[in-house]
Amino acid sequence: MSDHIRIFDTTMRDGEQSPGASMSHFEKLELAKLLEEMKVDVIEAGFPIASQGDFDAVKAISEIVSQSIVCGLSRAGAKDIERCAEAVRGAARPRIHTFISTSPLHMKHKLQMEPEQVLEAIHGSVTLARNLVGDVEWSAEDATRSTRDFLRRAVETAIKAGATTINVPDTVGYGVPDEYGAIFKDLIENVPGADEVIFSAHCHNDLGLAVANSLAAVQNGARQIECAINGLGERAGNAALEEIVMALKVRENAMPFSTQIDATRLFVASKMVSRITGFPVQYNKAIVGKNAFAHESGIHQDGMLKNAETYEIMTPESVGQGGTNLVMGKHSGRHAFKDKLRALGYELSDNAFMDAFTRFKDLADKKKFIFDDDLVALVDDAASHVDDAIKVSRLRVVAGTDGPQTAEIDLLINGEKRWTTMRGNGPVDAVFNAIRALVPHEAVLDLYQVHAVTEGTDAQAEVSVRLAEGGYYATARAADADTLVASAKAYVGALNRLMTKQKRHGGEVQVG
Ligand code: KIV
Ligand code: ZN
Repeated sequence: MSDHIRIFDTTMRDGEQSPGASMSHFEKLELAKLLEEMKVDVIEAGFPIASQGDFDAVKAISEIVSQSIVCGLSRAGAKDIERCAEAVRGAARPRIHTFISTSPLHMKHKLQMEPEQVLEAIHGSVTLARNLVGDVEWSAEDATRSTRDFLRRAVETAIKAGATTINVPDTVGYGVPDEYGAIFKDLIENVPGADEVIFSAHCHNDLGLAVANSLAAVQNGARQIECAINGLGERAGNAALEEIVMALKVRENAMPFSTQIDATRLFVASKMVSRITGFPVQYNKAIVGKNAFAHESGIHQDGMLKNAETYEIMTPESVGQGGTNLVMGKHSGRHAFKDKLRALGYELSDNAFMDAFTRFKDLADKKKFIFDDDLVALVDDAASHVDDAIKVSRLRVVAGTDGPQTAEIDLLINGEKRWTTMRGNGPVDAVFNAIRALVPHEAVLDLYQVHAVTEGTDAQAEVSVRLAEGGYYATARAADADTLVASAKAYVGALNRLMTKQKRHGGEVQVG
């Protein structure tokens, strides 16, 4: 059996199902390009039947990706599968991923089907998919709570019908490593035809075991891992791609398997996904967190100065984290700025570059020292609001002890300037009231978070806002030297995303 582990990225499918984590069409294309550059084996680009937006994204990604397999998800029905086939048709290497539940709980309550009917559905769906494309993945949803006997029969049926990859998801994050690994061993040893397909792990992180379970699957014969950048995904998320890749790389002596991923792109990918979704990366997140390579205690710092290996099992550079250092100021020119952005992993178009450079100069007027993190926040901020129909063009706020706290705001709404003044219970409330007055909506503020991008009182503020309305969530993030400007931009960003999401998911189909 080969030791190559295929990395299947589901950031744009399972990841986007995370409440509040919406991605626009262009953001998905941008992410797909990066995933391909990183040498991800399979890109799960979406769930084509779910909405026109998902279909369009899968189709467009299929047309621009040439090396990675592009995969679309579908349930077991013929309409789902045909729609999925249509979306991936233009791909150099198309795949249909079809699934149905196999646990007693799901079959009885969710599908309301008898086990024999589920077996028939597996046979029918995989046969149809195989008639449409040569590469078909079949998933046993809720596999870890299925009976072993029925799971074996289901997998055998899928293999006989022509599935090329068999995925065994821990849909609800219930498995523990030994038990999850044992399922793979059992299926591989006992199901006829198992040696002709690739087995795949797909783990959710409800108990914080998604990465450990995925690795246990590999040790028991799985050769594909489904994961997402920053561990994005339903509920507590999926196994984090960066953690899987680095665990296999750093501990190759304990787990003799390899991936083809270019690990030096992991940090940029994490930043991109965080920027696109508006989900901040926790500081102590393994591999890509801000503190993943920071050493605070004197004893550790002393050890690091003598030999970095005393407290580092991998270098920051190996995952593309250069470390924050003092970089530039108001006298830095265009060339230096371009070189710095390239070192941070950004290749901008001419227009985006000029826009970022102007913003950099503005920031340098306000802030003496510009750090790497400032530049990342600045570029990400510009990129994430580029498609917005509503934009903040001017803000003036009265704050302080005397009150009343008042916000005067100009918004560009589809290019037309509108302004108003509103009071509030504090300056942030005044700013949000003013936005609500110009763009009436029922959404409620679900999250408001501020953090400083770097140290010092002149640091940029990075604000995250999450809005919720009618079961839809949207998150956005914005950075500015002025916390209230960042707050206004983040609120407006979330509003733009919420409106896009509501439009896009007009006829939303839920994945089980
Ligand atoms: O978690 C799960 O079971 C899934 C399937 C649709 C593969 O995401
Ligand atoms: Zn899942």
